[in-house]
Amino acid sequence: MAATGETQPAKHQEVGHKSLLQSDALYQYILETSVYPREPQPMKELREVTAKHPWNLMTTSADEGQFLNLLLKLINAKNTMEIGVYTGYSLLSTALALPDDGKILALDINRENYEIGLPIIEKAGVAHKIDFREGPALPLLDQMVDDVSP
Ligand SMILES: C[S@@+](CC[C@H](N)C(=O)[O-])C[C@H]1O[C@@H](n2cnc3c(N)ncnc32)[C@H](O)[C@@H]1O
Repeated sequence: MAATGETQPAKHQEVGHKSLLQSDALYQYILETSVYPREPQPMKELREVTAKHPWNLMTTSADEGQFLNLLLKLINAKNTMEIGVYTGYSLLSTALALPDDGKILALDINRENYEIGLPIIEKAGVAHKIDFREGPALPLLDQMVDDVSP
């Protein structure tokens, strides 16, 4: 709420940021001094490409992406599922965290958006970890369970 009484969302909330932080200036400071300098080059490239897409509100933020990467490394994750890929920012963050023989089952109803990020994921050398399947996740997962059931 602004001092005038008008309802004005903070700038970072307008761009889909889901942080608990209420201060735009503080969030920008954290991004500029801590998050962006640590962001791997392919993720920076994917973030910038995604920012030009009309549905960019859907993307994972850079701070979330780095937190996800850290958690995956801490638990030595090897196999993960990505349900909802969009252009692949959190997918790339995951792929960079997994070991070379790690695997990600990536499901999305929209392959076109995944293909925006795919050249960057390939250039980063981690596309071999990703098994992308197009379609609604629940029926795809049900089918996979049926396929392995006796
Ligand atoms: C919030 S975005 C995902 C953001 C993504 N993880 C990133 O880091 O940019 C949600 C995604 O879920 C996908 N989606 C929506 N319904 C789905 C469903 N039933 N099954 C699979 N994907 C779905 C949308 O196409 C969209 O790409």
